[in-house]
Amino acid sequence: MSDTYVGAIDQGTTGTRFMVFDHDGSVVANAYEKHEQIYPEPGWVEHDPMEIWENTKQVVKDGLADGGLSPDQLDALGITNQRETTIVWDAETGKPVHNALVWQDRRTTDRVEEIQEADKVEWIREKTGLECDAYFSATKVEWILDNADQIKTGRARPEDIRDRAESGELLMGTIDTWLIYNLTGNHITDVSNASRTMLYNIRELEWDDELLEEFSVPRSMVPEVRPSSDEKTYGTTDADGFLGAEVPVAGALGDQQAALFGQTCFDTGDAKNTYGTGSFFLMNTGEEAVASDHGLLTTIGFQRSGEPVQYALEGSIFITGAAIEWLEDVELIDDPAETAELARSVDSTDGVYFVPAFTGLGAPHWDGRARGTIVGMTRGTRREHIVRATLESIAFQTRDVAEAMEADSGVEMTSLKVDGGAVKNNYLCQLQSDIIQTDIARPKVDETTALGSAYAAGLAVGYWETVDELRDNWQVDKTFKPKMASGDADKKQARWEEAVDRSLDWARD
Ligand code: G3P
Repeated sequence: MSDTYVGAIDQGTTGTRFMVFDHDGSVVANAYEKHEQIYPEPGWVEHDPMEIWENTKQVVKDGLADGGLSPDQLDALGITNQRETTIVWDAETGKPVHNALVWQDRRTTDRVEEIQEADKVEWIREKTGLECDAYFSATKVEWILDNADQIKTGRARPEDIRDRAESGELLMGTIDTWLIYNLTGNHITDVSNASRTMLYNIRELEWDDELLEEFSVPRSMVPEVRPSSDEKTYGTTDADGFLGAEVPVAGALGDQQAALFGQTCFDTGDAKNTYGTGSFFLMNTGEEAVASDHGLLTTIGFQRSGEPVQYALEGSIFITGAAIEWLEDVELIDDPAETAELARSVDSTDGVYFVPAFTGLGAPHWDGRARGTIVGMTRGTRREHIVRATLESIAFQTRDVAEAMEADSGVEMTSLKVDGGAVKNNYLCQLQSDIIQTDIARPKVDETTALGSAYAAGLAVGYWETVDELRDNWQVDKTFKPKMASGDADKKQARWEEAVDRSLDWARD
């Protein structure tokens, strides 16, 4: 039996996890640390990049201790990350000039509407496959360059931040880039993360000069783009650094693409849905970048060294697990684990529908001004009904994007692979199967995001030789089959659509 392993850093929206996997794809070590969510104004969401880097070092050390491992037992490190979240930092000091603007942040909605009014939506979609939205990095980096507080650079020089960006003093990146930079000293991203910036041309496979100009981002700021599984590697950790060993960093994937990889969705038509803060439904479309007519994104799935890019269609749902967190915030529940029991304790939601559009709606509606809405309450409404309506909202939103996916791809879904924290909830998995009217397959390893980035790194260094070895590792834990009559599911879904209509455009000026 091999005594070497592959490590994965999974830097997500609410926390950072380090996991170590063996050749069978089994977890041999695990550590996790939450970080602060900073809400300076309504609709604004920030993270402190230094806190994220400190937590990353901590979880790697804690994880190794958890598994009783030494760093030189790691053959490679993979990175996976919350996507789109944007950081600008000083190339000399390595210090961020501002907090990270998180993917959920809506502060650039006005700028997005300006672009929409200028009829540039199709132009952006053509190049990037993305819907013009504040979700992506382009308007975030533009905002930072227009607004960042220079005091945070640690420099006394009062130059304009834009001048400093133009003269190559500042670098930008998504979270993968920030971690690769801190781990190896190199300014690199992978194709899957680049494809979420709204600055990268997914067909030409290069940073798009016209988009860089539109958002006033100097080319010197953007990272080099590499395959997601890179035999050349992005660099190695420093033997004199926190890890005390030289470990190659050889794989990086946005977290949703990592889950696609970890679920071994390597073939055209393979699909998965991940239930985290939001839910992200991705279908591999092979070497073809399929354009969506139904509100989905065309994005890069992954790329292995020397192989063509694999594209994906994506339905991005902004709030699913975060709606359960909200139930906790407002003290309707003490623990997410209670939700199944509370939901089961009532026969229905009693006509209550909850649209958790806290940060606008993503696919397939794309309305940055939609807001959370509860409809149908009566004097008899109890917290059990609201809890049940929250779980139902996760299933309804998933059906919305699944229908769009079928319409765009022409592939009829017979089974859906699921993963992420919330799929431990059997009630939710059964409900999802009922609403979507298809089999739901939950794998044994539900942390497929971390697994996917470990696979990408491990393939690059020869820890795994072929993707068939990875396919052999995939094992089903439980399959949920629809129990609800399809007519009932259709009726509920139709009512849900009416509730969605009521949430749209609520935060208009
Ligand atoms: O696009 C945002 C997504 O990558 C966030 O994922 O799991 O951190 O909620 P998660």
